[in-house]
Amino acid sequence: MEKETGNIKSKIKAMANQEDVFKNIISHSKEYGFIFQSSDIYDGLSAVYDYGQMGVELKKNIREYWWKAMVQMNENIVGIDAAIFMHPTTWKASGHVDAFNDPLIDNKDSKKRYRADVLIEEHVAKAEAKIQKEVDKARLRFGESFNEETFLSTNARVLENRNMIDLILARFKDALNDNNLDGIRQIIIDCEIVCSVSGTKNWTEVRQFNLMFNTAMGAVTEDSNIIYLRPETAQGIFVNFLNVQKSGRMKIPFGIAQTGKAFRNEIVARQFIFRMREFEQMEMQFFVRPGTEMEWYNYWKNARMQWHQTLGLGMENYKFRDHLKLAHYANAACDIEFNFPFGFKELEGIHSRTDFDLKAHEAHSGKKLQYFDPELNQSYVPYVVETSVGLDRLFLSILSKAYVEEKLEDGTTRVALNIPAFLAPIKVAVLPLLKKDGLPEKAREIMTILKPEHACTFDEKDTIGKRYRRQDAIGTPFCVTVDHQSLEDNTVTIRYRDTMLQERVSANKLLEIIDDKVNIKTMLKNLI
Ligand code: GAP
Repeated sequence: MEKETGNIKSKIKAMANQEDVFKNIISHSKEYGFIFQSSDIYDGLSAVYDYGQMGVELKKNIREYWWKAMVQMNENIVGIDAAIFMHPTTWKASGHVDAFNDPLIDNKDSKKRYRADVLIEEHVAKAEAKIQKEVDKARLRFGESFNEETFLSTNARVLENRNMIDLILARFKDALNDNNLDGIRQIIIDCEIVCSVSGTKNWTEVRQFNLMFNTAMGAVTEDSNIIYLRPETAQGIFVNFLNVQKSGRMKIPFGIAQTGKAFRNEIVARQFIFRMREFEQMEMQFFVRPGTEMEWYNYWKNARMQWHQTLGLGMENYKFRDHLKLAHYANAACDIEFNFPFGFKELEGIHSRTDFDLKAHEAHSGKKLQYFDPELNQSYVPYVVETSVGLDRLFLSILSKAYVEEKLEDGTTRVALNIPAFLAPIKVAVLPLLKKDGLPEKAREIMTILKPEHACTFDEKDTIGKRYRRQDAIGTPFCVTVDHQSLEDNTVTIRYRDTMLQERVSANKLLEIIDDKVNIKTMLKNLI
């Protein structure tokens, strides 16, 4: 291995704090063609985003990894692609017309609208952060002898905060379960939560707000023509349960997977692509024998956590969180939370949905949605365990951990995206050292070999150092530089994004070296 010409590589430290880093990630996403605000030239459309030339590749690769892990690796899971528009009765049956609501509250002074539940959750998160701060301080003070468990159970300030959190959460859970909107408002008042704009506690009543978008189908806009934009992809799977089971001769337990757009008229849509009004879900409904659902719920909890951890973003960045209030369809539910730049937040939901959906569709359609179990010699409506992850949130989790700002020993800075190599939008950049002496032609020869196998780019503009930086910024794991020696002995320099180390290798070996690191097969084998 040799050093990168003209640059000293060893990294000194990350330079900015979390909040600044998040802002930088957003502007980096725009600058390098990952994510643009929708309708940018008209000053944007709130909480709607477009994926640019790099973003679309990264998103496609993430989707492909999910799809292959689900459908290709599980012999009893198949995929479908249902339409976004569905018969309106679908949403009556699923409960979304009556119960897919968020509680909203307005501040009378600033006129700013909030989700009441989010205000409470953020208040609790602040108290949790205070506890963590006490723990960090004590760890510094006591060093080696620090015992976190003892500290948490004895420190007065920690206990005070913990009791306060427990009390709020207990009241919050009761209020949610009783659909008690006044109770939710009272928690906001009692916790003295203030509006971040006006700084006042002058709150309206809490009201329910249905999150579904609707439009009209056909020329006449009567009620009967109302069509909803699906708020989850899952219902397309439920209504096709029997079609797939029969045409695919599927035996329970089996799953149906789907990726596709979903739409929610979110009241508070902040934090970039974390909460959008148009987003993409990757869902899998697993149909099981009644009574076995908890076993499968635990199975899928573990399987999904394992899948996330293969991405290599750090085990410590994931945790499970049980739902405080179960959705109208669930008898058990949890989230896999991820440590986003703004804290731990939901990345994926795993829900035991009972037979709620299939039974409701039976009742509303008048069609039987049952499975004949040859082993039991009886028919039943299957129970369902669902895994549901937002593709955009997954994208954000990967992007936010991949983004690094480094100060190098020579005083220069480098911004790199250490995206897992197999997901990177571009896998290899081929760079002729000079734009003459036959180097571009030789580089093109190499491109011709690599291009059918992997996403490649060719760049001959600017100094080699600048070109390396450009590739670092979009997360290209390998740069291949063609120089005069390449013409003599068919060797090239391969430069690795994460270490910036360079190696001289035969051009004939390139495919083997690159393939080993970027082939999705290697990742799928880890799941077995
Ligand atoms: N079918 C179940 C369902 O839709 P959910 O918890 O409402 O469950 C599942 O959504 C996942 O979809 C979430 O964990 C999240 O990753 C993603 N998601 C939900 N709302 C979103 C939004 N407004 N923007 C981006 N992703 C969202």
